[in-house]
Amino acid sequence: MIKLINLTFKQWLRRAIYRMGAGSVVGWFMQRRRSAPSHETAEYWNQELSGRMSTPNLNGRLGNAIRDMTSVLLIQHCGPPPRTVLDLGCGFGDLAQALAGAGLQRYIGVDLSDYVIERAKSQCSSWPVARQCDLSFHNADLREFVPEDDELFDVIVCNEVLKYVSVDEAVEQLNRYGRWLAPAGVFCVNISDDPKSRAIFRALTKKFAWVYGVILQQRPDGPGFRVTSDKATPAYLVGLFRAPTEQV
Ligand SMILES: C[S@@+](CC[C@H](N)C(=O)[O-])C[C@H]1O[C@@H](n2cnc3c(N)ncnc32)[C@H](O)[C@@H]1O
Repeated sequence: MIKLINLTFKQWLRRAIYRMGAGSVVGWFMQRRRSAPSHETAEYWNQELSGRMSTPNLNGRLGNAIRDMTSVLLIQHCGPPPRTVLDLGCGFGDLAQALAGAGLQRYIGVDLSDYVIERAKSQCSSWPVARQCDLSFHNADLREFVPEDDELFDVIVCNEVLKYVSVDEAVEQLNRYGRWLAPAGVFCVNISDDPKSRAIFRALTKKFAWVYGVILQQRPDGPGFRVTSDKATPAYLVGLFRAPTEQV
């Protein structure tokens, strides 16, 4: 009986598709794809950051905290004292809080999402780091943001944001921002283990001087030494680069 229902349903579906015509089915799929906001838009990030990403699970919370602390330790040990920091794709601005004990004096967070920038602006005055540091947040696309002419940053951070622009744009933008890097300044780049991020990383290593880095992967389900391909808990590369002097 179940088989018969299944067969009748399949026949009905096939007939419906034939009646609509293959072109309309493809059109329907394309329409669905087009109506989903692209990750290059503020609309997409507003939805993500106010929904799925607003209350991360334990993996997410720990992952973010470990990545932020790793960035801070790498910067403290292998870069200049991070007094002035530009954080591109800053999200909620958590990195500013992680940098509080590292002598942060001026922090500028830039993000495409107006939702996350408004939230950071309204909350940051209560953060302990706000007592010692000049914090400011700008709602802008990192590809268009232009810091003040005379501003120089000890660290320019791109944590989990470069994969949302093209490989060429990622390199172009780091090259452009090199103009605002202090003489001993470093780029701190954090990327997850996926094909596009690997391509970005390869392109960056051709243009910028590698300083130091680590690979992190969480192990919620048991111990293990190998870095594995895992969508739920991907490996992250946190690395520091320096702009070659002739490009700055
Ligand atoms: C995965 S979250 C990472 C947030 C934060 N850097 C962290 O590591 O927790 C990506 C962030 O980048 C922002 N973003 C994406 N594309 C951007 C762009 N072109 N310019 C500026 N921000 C962008 C998003 O709005 C989002 O807040």
